[in-house]
Amino acid sequence: MPRPILATISTEAMAYNLAQVKSRIQQVQQSSLAYAHRQVMTIAVIKANAYGHGTLNAIKGFAQADALGMIDLADAVLCRENGWDKPILLLEGFFDASDIPLLQHHQLTTAIHHDEQVALLSEAKAVGKPIDVMVKFNTGMNRLGFHISRASHVLDQLHQLQKNNIVGRIGCMTHFANADLCHDAVDESLAQMNRIKDLFGDRVSVCNSAASLRYPEFALVGTENWIRPGICLYGSTPFQTDKEGIPDVVFKPVMTLTARVLAVQSIQKGASIGYGSTFTATEAMRIAVVACGYADGYPRSAKLGTPVMVDGIASRIIGRVSMDMLTVDITHIPNVGVHSQVVLWGEGGPSIDQVAESAGRIGYELMCNLAKRVPLQIVE
Ligand SMILES: Cc1ncc(COP(=O)(O)O)c(C=O)c1O
Repeated sequence: MPRPILATISTEAMAYNLAQVKSRIQQVQQSSLAYAHRQVMTIAVIKANAYGHGTLNAIKGFAQADALGMIDLADAVLCRENGWDKPILLLEGFFDASDIPLLQHHQLTTAIHHDEQVALLSEAKAVGKPIDVMVKFNTGMNRLGFHISRASHVLDQLHQLQKNNIVGRIGCMTHFANADLCHDAVDESLAQMNRIKDLFGDRVSVCNSAASLRYPEFALVGTENWIRPGICLYGSTPFQTDKEGIPDVVFKPVMTLTARVLAVQSIQKGASIGYGSTFTATEAMRIAVVACGYADGYPRSAKLGTPVMVDGIASRIIGRVSMDMLTVDITHIPNVGVHSQVVLWGEGGPSIDQVAESAGRIGYELMCNLAKRVPLQIVE
């Protein structure tokens, strides 16, 4: 029998969260006639193995998305091979000339963020349908993208490639550095995109989860808007600190991490638990030893008191998280024994964000760090 640990993935929750984001934007759209003719398309971001949830699970859960966004070409090919026939956007574009035939064959949309990519396209042969591109602009993140001042120049080159049947539709995109904060820098980024978006036939993509939720009107800046939510689709928050102005949208947890009790220890006052003896009992206690550790992706930095749910009753972690086990106070839960179930995060337990906060981490890290050795079970 495998170790008693399991991550269940709810495709129903994925679909629900996707609908929540769409309806948030629709509400704003319906509030003004000025937005009546704006189209909003949703790109579900499924990079990094769908934030740890499994690429193929994500195809099912986000079946109602208009497109998928990811980084790895191999994941894009996997999606095509498994029946995803709507657009796929490669968020960092392609990395090598040898990628271009795959873009053509699988009709993948690629970000273009660097002259090198334009040069590689210029050397490509036109085969089949031309490649749709999104030109990425650096509006303050200073990671990927052209400076706004280069928009006309890059566009001229891409128009030439359009004539040669290499490039198809051309849109523009940016990625905000501070959409999770109330910040003037976000307005400044959007102002830069507003200056150039008309050049791109108004196909625009600016909003991640934080921007879609905090600034839904930004999702309506162009005629054809492609929003790119990621984290909120998995039921975790993009907002760590500044929560001002965030709507009351409730997302469902998609990943639920559970493990079973391997052993129960009764300890006396003054006894310590685990590596480093970081916790010492001030009274007689019962401790459950649970089959989940940092090698499963549970954060070792989880503090004393990090919440867990044991047999439906709230409890806390005590002692250090070790590689394969962690320890939980069950003094107040007398019926717990070997095989009892512990919810570490997700449905019926603490939220992944609560655990992340208690460990000085973010929900993104916890879900992406779920270890390969943890079996994933899909719940439809
Ligand atoms: C270019 C791009 N767009 C969208 C997203 C989705 O962001 P989030 O998960 O914060 O919604 C990411 C993720 O980092 C990204 O890199």
